[in-house]
Amino acid sequence: MTDQSITDQNTSAEKPWGGRFTEPTDAFVERFTASVGFDQRLYHHDITGSIAHATMLAEVGVLTAQERDTIIEGLKGVKADIEAGRFEWSVSLEDVHMNIEAKLTERIGITGKKLHTGRSRNDQVATDIRLYLRDEIDVIAAELNRLQSGLLDLAEREAATIMPGFTHLQTAQPVTFGHHLLAWYEMLVRDADRLQDCRKRVNVMPLGAAALAGTTYPIDRSITAKLLGFDRPSENSLDSVSDRDFAIEFCGFAALLMTHLSRFSEELVLWTSAQFDFIDLPDRFCTGSSIMPQKKNPDVPELVRGKTGRVNGHLISLLTLMKSQPLAYNKDNQEDKEPLFDTVDTVKGCLKAYADMIPAIEAKADNMRVAAKRGFSTATDLADYLVKKGVAFRDAHEIVGKAVGFGVAEGRDLSEMTTEELARFSDVIGEDVFDVLTLDGSVQARDHLGGTAPNQVRAAVARARKGR
Ligand code: ARG
Repeated sequence: MTDQSITDQNTSAEKPWGGRFTEPTDAFVERFTASVGFDQRLYHHDITGSIAHATMLAEVGVLTAQERDTIIEGLKGVKADIEAGRFEWSVSLEDVHMNIEAKLTERIGITGKKLHTGRSRNDQVATDIRLYLRDEIDVIAAELNRLQSGLLDLAEREAATIMPGFTHLQTAQPVTFGHHLLAWYEMLVRDADRLQDCRKRVNVMPLGAAALAGTTYPIDRSITAKLLGFDRPSENSLDSVSDRDFAIEFCGFAALLMTHLSRFSEELVLWTSAQFDFIDLPDRFCTGSSIMPQKKNPDVPELVRGKTGRVNGHLISLLTLMKSQPLAYNKDNQEDKEPLFDTVDTVKGCLKAYADMIPAIEAKADNMRVAAKRGFSTATDLADYLVKKGVAFRDAHEIVGKAVGFGVAEGRDLSEMTTEELARFSDVIGEDVFDVLTLDGSVQARDHLGGTAPNQVRAAVARARKGR
């Protein structure tokens, strides 16, 4: 549904709240204050909430069974119209709630006017957003899970592939590619955990708070909560209509997730460059240049890295929106939707792209190995070797530093020196030094929980698949 389908012809249309007003709303103010251009996306949840509300009202005797049925039938008709593109949204009816209610009354007559009994748009919109966000959280959780499974598969495949590990983006020590991928996986485990934790606080029902103080009708909020799948009704009516901390929390989750994806992206961009040349991304995830025929650009990771900015920005928007708001509902809160919707859309898009792309990564194991050898990545292994032969660690550090200096001058790795050459730096060095100076020896030696050894990677994958 686009903005074009919204009419503002009937500016003078009667407002559901028009009773006390003596002149029509200024045409600009009407457009300025309307949210229907973006909150129409809540139509499905708005109708679901209304059906539950009407059902509860009948249960407690505020509506008759017949009124309830008429309202529910009418709401279903409105929904069908919206989904068939037959619904004309009106700016003069301000938002999704009043648009739907007006259409309902148009369809079923005065019974439609009874739906809003014991309710306000303030608790209605808070309920709609929570229902919407709960559904989206479940979609996002599933997509996140798909990405995690892809990472586990790739990590298992690359459990013994050796690459340089970096600190300060300088070659540090050899690691296995599988181990590196599992580092990404761990970040996502925490993101998934945060998302589920956030869901608990989203899944609380504000409906029944009405405008701010509750309602004089004998409502039973446990009925609506149950019908809508909420864990429980909220405790305080003022809080229920005013706070958007659940949306802020979701955006906090999203900002961290995107921050993680931006880190993966940065590495993928580096790794696909001619300078690193560690991996290949299939053509379907890349695009070319209109001027340089040779170019194959890693657009997907670049774009995900870029989109992190808007998601982080939305978190700040919502925090700032909420800051200093007095109780209870304020119109400010209408501004919660666009940042939230865009966060949901962006996160879903980025996760889909990543879940599709990760399993398609092709590791260039030979290039990784050559790179791991450059930069004296087994220097620490040599120091550990000396320590195990009785040299104090500080002295070992010094000895290896000198050997590396020699290697730099000669253009050779430690493993490419002879035993005699190495023994010049310390007489405890013997033939067996080459067991630790090789890349495979180095990664295999880190054979403990959380270490980079290939069998540790495989064990970690197995634990992760079992849900640990
Ligand atoms: N469109 C409004 C929003 O998104 C709905 C609630 C309006 N309530 C009010 N009293 N004006 O927040």
